[in-house]
Amino acid sequence: MSKPLEGIKIIDFTHVQAGPACTQLLAWFGADVIKVERPGAGDVTRSQLRDIPGVDALYFTMLNSNKRSLTLDTKTQDGKDILTKLIKESDVLVENFGPGALDRMGFTWEHIKEINPGMIVASVKGFSDGHHYEDLKVYENVAQCAGGAASTTGFDDGPPTVSAAALGDSNTGMHLAIGILTALRARDTTGKGQKVAVSMQDSVLNLCRVKLRDQQRLDRVGYLEEYPQYPHGTFSDVVPRGGNAGGGGQPGWVLKCKGWQTDPNAYIYFTIQGHAWAPICRAIGKEEWIDDPAYTTAQARQDKIFDIFATIEEWLKDKTKFEAVDILRKFDIPCSPVLSMKEIAADPSLRASGTITEVEHKERGTYLTVGSPIKFSDLKVEIKGSPLLGEHTDEILAGLGYDPQKIAALHEQRVV
Ligand code: COA
Repeated sequence: MSKPLEGIKIIDFTHVQAGPACTQLLAWFGADVIKVERPGAGDVTRSQLRDIPGVDALYFTMLNSNKRSLTLDTKTQDGKDILTKLIKESDVLVENFGPGALDRMGFTWEHIKEINPGMIVASVKGFSDGHHYEDLKVYENVAQCAGGAASTTGFDDGPPTVSAAALGDSNTGMHLAIGILTALRARDTTGKGQKVAVSMQDSVLNLCRVKLRDQQRLDRVGYLEEYPQYPHGTFSDVVPRGGNAGGGGQPGWVLKCKGWQTDPNAYIYFTIQGHAWAPICRAIGKEEWIDDPAYTTAQARQDKIFDIFATIEEWLKDKTKFEAVDILRKFDIPCSPVLSMKEIAADPSLRASGTITEVEHKERGTYLTVGSPIKFSDLKVEIKGSPLLGEHTDEILAGLGYDPQKIAALHEQRVV
């Protein structure tokens, strides 16, 4: 079956997570993604946090599937010549080097445009161009702090907290993928490439927009009724950390289930959806609350929301998180067990949908990875193992017109 992005050639100059997550997605959908790596070393994640000595780490294999690997020292003249040839015949160059690195390599946007006016150059940086921090190198948690996520995550009596979700890295990569597809669509009509830039700070902030909503509400009225600080606690002039509160209009919290004393994940997330109040009361055996004016509206419940959660926890005491959800789902109550990674890895539904998938790797055997979260009716996304360092160097060079002797010499000189 042909894939929608087949025929799109991508020079993948990315490393660590933000860039690789973007290009991996495009590779899944059919693009020919050539990962360009420094000879002998490669992407630093190949060797970071290894679980098998001498074998590419899961950090690398889980972010670089379906790609080809070309080793190339782009600081040598031969390396620059090879990159120039590649640029001539490619559609997109994606990079997430530190600020200015591509320019220092000699491949400014102006120069790339001269080589191939149809080229799309897509970059991830920590901060946007012209930002007062534009010179900073940035990793995941730095971005979470700069984008407003950390100051609003965690509990009120604790420090700013980062999320386990890769809001700075993979999230930025996803934004960049949307930018690349948009630029490709634009090129279909104009024939011209363009520069696409996404900053990690902006991408985190884009996911934190409800917190900017809250800052403006706080400025106006001085409190935020859906936060646990309301109505008994106090607010300062900045959006506080809201613990496990639901961020929208539906109060929610993480509640203990049977076994929480020993199992760190014996919890469910419970949401009190306004119109589901009567079913909630029926589910937890508190029918008397259904028509009690002290409970009938969300506003009436607000000052006793934690007493209500405590009552639900009492009901949950003899139920595992899975038993509880099986009961609550019959009442149409939005809820979920808090799942551990171990449970997720074994989840039959995630396996059946391909969201968790086993992949074969030439050196490590099979490993689990996260497949495409995007499902299509006319595209089956097949996840393949990640390439070994330089696995496709010779075939890519041959494709660019280099003969075997020249390729051997390039290896000898460590250009590739
Ligand atoms: N051949 C020759 N040189 C190469 C090369 C290749 N194939 N690939 C990379 N290099 C060089 C670069 O040209 C650069 O050289 P220079 O600094 O002398 O100009 C050098 O390697 C280092 O690149 P850099 O990206 O700055 O690496 P770093 O390890 O110091 O920093 C980051 C890593 C992630 C902090 C930095 O790349 C960064 O801030 N990136 C943007 C934001 C981002 O994506 N963060 C990571 C999210 S997971």
